[in-house]
Amino acid sequence: MRIFSGIQPTGRKHLGNYIGAIRQYVAGQERAADGESIYCIVDLHALSVAYDPAELRERLYDTTAILIAAGLDPGRCVLFRQSDVREHTELTWLLSAVTAHGDLNRMTQFKDKSAKQRELVSAALFLYPVLQAADVLAYKADEVPVGDDQRQHVELMREIARRFNERFAPDTPILVEPEHRIPEIGGRVMDLQDPTMKMSTTGGTGQGTVLVLDPEDVVRKKVMSAVTDSGSEVVRGTGKEGIGNLIEVLSVIREVEPEAIEHEFEGFGYGDFKRAVADGVVDYLAPVRERYDQLRADEDELEAILAGGAEKARAIAAPTVAEVRDAMGVGPPRG
Ligand code: TRP
Repeated sequence: MRIFSGIQPTGRKHLGNYIGAIRQYVAGQERAADGESIYCIVDLHALSVAYDPAELRERLYDTTAILIAAGLDPGRCVLFRQSDVREHTELTWLLSAVTAHGDLNRMTQFKDKSAKQRELVSAALFLYPVLQAADVLAYKADEVPVGDDQRQHVELMREIARRFNERFAPDTPILVEPEHRIPEIGGRVMDLQDPTMKMSTTGGTGQGTVLVLDPEDVVRKKVMSAVTDSGSEVVRGTGKEGIGNLIEVLSVIREVEPEAIEHEFEGFGYGDFKRAVADGVVDYLAPVRERYDQLRADEDELEAILAGGAEKARAIAAPTVAEVRDAMGVGPPRG
C-alpha cells in the first residue's frame, strides 16, 4: 500500500489544514511501510495564481518545517519539493493528452479560483488538476489523503489513469487508479465566525481561522469568541453548526467520537464547553509550534532534508515516466 499527498506551500496553515490533512499524513506514515508514504510540497501548483517568488521560497520552508514539527519523519516517509523532481512536469504534459478539456472545465476549484483572479486567469490554473494527477500517478499510489475539497480532483486523476491505461496499456495497466481518503470527522473544519464556510486563510474570516502558529492567547481568544447559536445544549444538529464544529474539533483532538463529547458536556453551558475546546486546541498545537521554531531556523538543514526526499522520490517517479513515454511512443524505444 502506497500513500501520496501534496500540500500547498502556504506557510499560514490553519487548524482545518492540520486536522483535515497534516494529521492524516502522520497517520499514513505510521500505517505505511518505510518509504511508502510520500508527501510533496507543491511549489509548482502555487504558480497557478498570483504570487511573489521570494515569498514562495519562504513559505516552502515554513511548510516543510510545519510538516516535520507535526511528526513527519524524513527518514521514514518521503518528503520533498515538487519542482525538484522534473518527472512531475513531464508527466503533466503526457497526461494532458488523455485529459478531457471538458472535465477540466467542470472543476469547481478552477471556477472558484479563476473568479478570484484579478490580473490573469492562467493556463496553469486550468491545468492544475493534471499536474495534481501527475503527482500521484507518477508514484502509482493507492491512497490519497486529502480534505473534502479535493474529492473532484481525485476523481479526475482516476479518470485520467483509466483513460491512459485503456488507450496505451490495455493488456497490463501501467497507472494505478488511486482512492481518496477523506476523514469522516474533521475533513471540514468550519470558520469559527461563520460556520457555513470552511476554515480558510484566503476565503475565511481572520478571527474565525486558528493558525497553527498563532500564539496561545490568540488561539484562546479565537475559540472563545466562536459564533454559536442562541440555544444552550452542547449537541450537533441543524441550526447548531457553530457548536457542532467545535464538538468535531474537540473529538478529533481527544481522539473520541463526537457523541462522547456531547455526553461529557451534558448539562454544561457554552462557556464551559468553549473553554475546554480552547484548552484542547492550545495543548494540541503548542508542541508543534515549539518544534517548528527550532526547525525553521535552519534553512540549510531543511534544504538537505528536501534534497534527500527528492532523491528518493525520483527513484520511484522516473521509472513510471519512462514506462509512460514508451507506451505513448515518445522517444527511442526502450531496450
Ligand atoms: N490541490 C491540493 C490542495 O490544494 C494539493 C495537491 C497537489 C495534492 N498535488 C496533490 C493533493 C496530490 C493530493 C495529491 O490541497
